[in-house]
Amino acid sequence: MTLIHQKMIRAFIQGRYWRHPVRALRIFQAETARKNRGYKQAWEAVGKDAGWTFTMMNGSPDEATLQRTGGEMARRLVDALALEPTHHVLELGCGVARVGRELAPQVAAWHGADISSSILKIARRRTAHLPNVHFHELDRATLPFGDDSFDRAYSHLVLFHMDKEDLFLYLREFARVLKPDGLVYFDTWNLLHPEGWARFMWELEHHRHKRVKPAHRNQFCTPDEVRLYVEKAGLVPLHILDSSFWVQTIAAKPSPQMPTDALKALPRNLDNLLPHGKWYY
Ligand SMILES: C[S@@+](CC[C@H](N)C(=O)[O-])C[C@H]1O[C@@H](n2cnc3c(N)ncnc32)[C@H](O)[C@@H]1O
Repeated sequence: MTLIHQKMIRAFIQGRYWRHPVRALRIFQAETARKNRGYKQAWEAVGKDAGWTFTMMNGSPDEATLQRTGGEMARRLVDALALEPTHHVLELGCGVARVGRELAPQVAAWHGADISSSILKIARRRTAHLPNVHFHELDRATLPFGDDSFDRAYSHLVLFHMDKEDLFLYLREFARVLKPDGLVYFDTWNLLHPEGWARFMWELEHHRHKRVKPAHRNQFCTPDEVRLYVEKAGLVPLHILDSSFWVQTIAAKPSPQMPTDALKALPRNLDNLLPHGKWYY
């Protein structure tokens, strides 16, 4: 029996999964897959079970926690992206609209794009009361929007779930779909921080005995690497926060109208953006 089977059986017996046998089976299948079938299939499996999905988003299966953590992140983004009521906003990897449900009432239009139709189904249910919310299912690292479509964009807890090439492709897409002067926020794991390194080692151990590494496993960056990707994607890095286990980046699409210093002054209360305690707030 492989080490991974032993680990799953131990987790099942210790009570983490026994209350949810169907979820346990799905997780077991994901952990022991023989083929890497890509991001979509990995996240479609997650979205078949709302409790598992919520836990993947913020460590807890209940709606009340989802609304609390979503509300806290929404407040941080309003400041970090200097959001205004007239803004058209895009979230890449919106999940169940944990953040979007709380943010949409504060902006003109909120668009959530995600690779998983099953997760988007939950998101639609959670936001049925909001008229300015729109969802888009993605197939690959291409955004189905015209050039210069959005004032603001963000991607929280998403870009470290993919290969660096796809992270970079999405940054290039942000540069295309943002209006000139538009701002974008995203975060990745910080390999240079001790907790980021510890998580890297955890991932290494967790996956090393598997036949294939899952497509949506956590991946890691250094702050300099993030800066390089941002610049090569055609964005201007304004703030790269690297004092926590995240590298948190606010970048802009350049325009001749607004000098970089003026763009840099737009984000507010950046101290609040740093994770306090758990990474999902
Ligand atoms: C950990 S969840 C975060 C969801 C949401 N941003 C939040 O903070 O609650 C990651 C989300 O990214 C989506 N995702 C993962 N890989 C993706 C990709 N390559 N393209 C688009 N969305 C992706 C997943 O389907 C999932 O909904």
